[in-house]
Amino acid sequence: MSFDRNIKIAPSILASDFANFGAECEAIEAQGADWVHVDVMDGHFVPAITFGPATCAAIRPHIKGVMDVHLMISPVDPYIDAFAKAGADIITAHVEAGPHIHRTLQAIRDAGAKAGVALNPATPASSVEHLLDMVDLICVMTVNPGFGGQKFIHSQIDKVKTLRAMIGDRPIHIEIDGGVDPTTAPLVANAGADVLVAGSAVFKGGSVSNPDVYGQNIRSIRDAANNG
Ligand code: DX5
Ligand code: ZN
Repeated sequence: MSFDRNIKIAPSILASDFANFGAECEAIEAQGADWVHVDVMDGHFVPAITFGPATCAAIRPHIKGVMDVHLMISPVDPYIDAFAKAGADIITAHVEAGPHIHRTLQAIRDAGAKAGVALNPATPASSVEHLLDMVDLICVMTVNPGFGGQKFIHSQIDKVKTLRAMIGDRPIHIEIDGGVDPTTAPLVANAGADVLVAGSAVFKGGSVSNPDVYGQNIRSIRDAANNG
């Protein structure tokens, strides 16, 4: 995985057909997705339950590029090796998921994956200030985690600007997760984000048998981010 700050669109398969993950991953990559974003929920850290490492391992052969695994689970540490073995390129844990995020991030890198840290909307940018040398990605939640299709929380834009300044020249991605569409994408891109997760805005109107719509949706978000 090489580093750059170009806009990358990461469709979240949370908004795809759960009976068809392999074909959905292949369809979005063929239609221009840069990364595939995989939302793991445990029914404890967040209200919903999605799936775990076995599903990640099953979809891995259907993804040519980056598998970006967002863990909305607590505890995290007992499952890191399983997600790394499942082929996650990036494993992101929440700063709110436990008392020892520093140890968790170390364990993610030790397992051979890139380490991401996610911040809920109420968590300040300063919570990651002492973690900058051990992360490859900071995920700013622009909705409360747990469900797709929620409304973008505008107060997070200032947080993105603060994080972008804090990061300086370090090779750390800023990822935005929640409510990203062609209207909100330019706001976060201008604030300094480079990875845009989008569930509903990518998958709406399309299907594996009508995948061109995915391509149009991805292009609309990317063009808005680049030209907004
Ligand atoms: C929320 C998830 C998001 C979600 C984004 O808990 O982490 O990845 O799928 O979905 P949209 O783009 O529909 O807000
Ligand atoms: Zn996510």
